[in-house]
Amino acid sequence: MSQKIVINDVGPRDGLQNQPKILSVEQRLQLCKALVDANVCAIEVGAFVSPKAVPAMANTAEVMQGLPKGNTLYSALIPNMRGYQLALDAQVPLMSLVVAVSDMMNEKNINMNTEQALVVCEDVLRQANQDGANVQAYVATAWGCPFEGDIAIAAVKAVTERLLKAGASHIVLADTIGAANPLAVEQLCTELVNSVGAERLSCHFHDTRAMGLANAYAASRAGIRQFDASIAGLGGCPFAPGASGNVATEDLVMMFEQMGFDTGINMQALLKAADLAIALTGTAKGGRAKNWIETYNKKLTAVS
Ligand code: COA
Ligand code: ZN
Repeated sequence: MSQKIVINDVGPRDGLQNQPKILSVEQRLQLCKALVDANVCAIEVGAFVSPKAVPAMANTAEVMQGLPKGNTLYSALIPNMRGYQLALDAQVPLMSLVVAVSDMMNEKNINMNTEQALVVCEDVLRQANQDGANVQAYVATAWGCPFEGDIAIAAVKAVTERLLKAGASHIVLADTIGAANPLAVEQLCTELVNSVGAERLSCHFHDTRAMGLANAYAASRAGIRQFDASIAGLGGCPFAPGASGNVATEDLVMMFEQMGFDTGINMQALLKAADLAIALTGTAKGGRAKNWIETYNKKLTAVS
């Protein structure tokens, strides 16, 4: 039996947060539903953050309410205790804290330094433990910071281990600006797979320098089996200058399926979701998979 790769589509959050056009709750739900129709098993649907800081993520509670019921694991980003309480009230099944390894990124993103952000995360995780809520953590700028440059493996490891010790259910190593390269990915992932185990780790790659797929491949060689990706390559972070969207979900699915992994995703339906993302935003470029599949469809039964 082929090995599974779990893909979490972050288009409805990471993808939409930086669009010039702000989508309505209805449009955000349309996009989530198209991903559910493609059998994407995990979706980051929004964020409980200050609507002044990120207007596109306002009304995430309403999006949560309108999502189709089923087996999809829905998550939302939370930056602090207020976000946690709002997400708890909205019955979000999985909440994602976010803390960068670098002080300046944390200052720009959440107005705290790294130590302050970690203390906030520990408070939230303590509360989540009491409430029985599932909270994971994003470790941002894991391979490079737009303000501070290179990031040491030891620093990422220390933040990761501290968050897990505080009760985070899972860690997502995030290449926030697309600074990683395949060798650096292999080195960090190997180190962390050995120390905390692959089952508690995911990777999140932005494709700013066209290294997204190569980085995902390198992570898979190190044993990582869980990845974030963004439908049609939507996205970028409003607080990380120069960052482009995540690696496109359709391209990641195509690569892993062709390598013999099972993503469980229906490619034809996924391409419809990509078309929708492009139509709704007017800015997403879409991945490379679509053109390839349309041209060589008959030869590609394995990915359809
Ligand atoms: N959700 C909604 N509103 C929130 C909030 C949350 N999680 N946390 C704080 N707020 C509100 C406060 O109530 C306050 O509102 P007011 O101005 O109407 O009184 C305002 O935001 C400022 O609160 P404060 O605690 O002083 O926060 P801040 O100004 O230091 O901003 C964050 C900190 C974390 C709230 C803000 O930087 C943020 O939301 N960042 C989002 C980052 C993000 O999404 N990045 C992209 C993903 S990595
Ligand atoms: Zn991101």
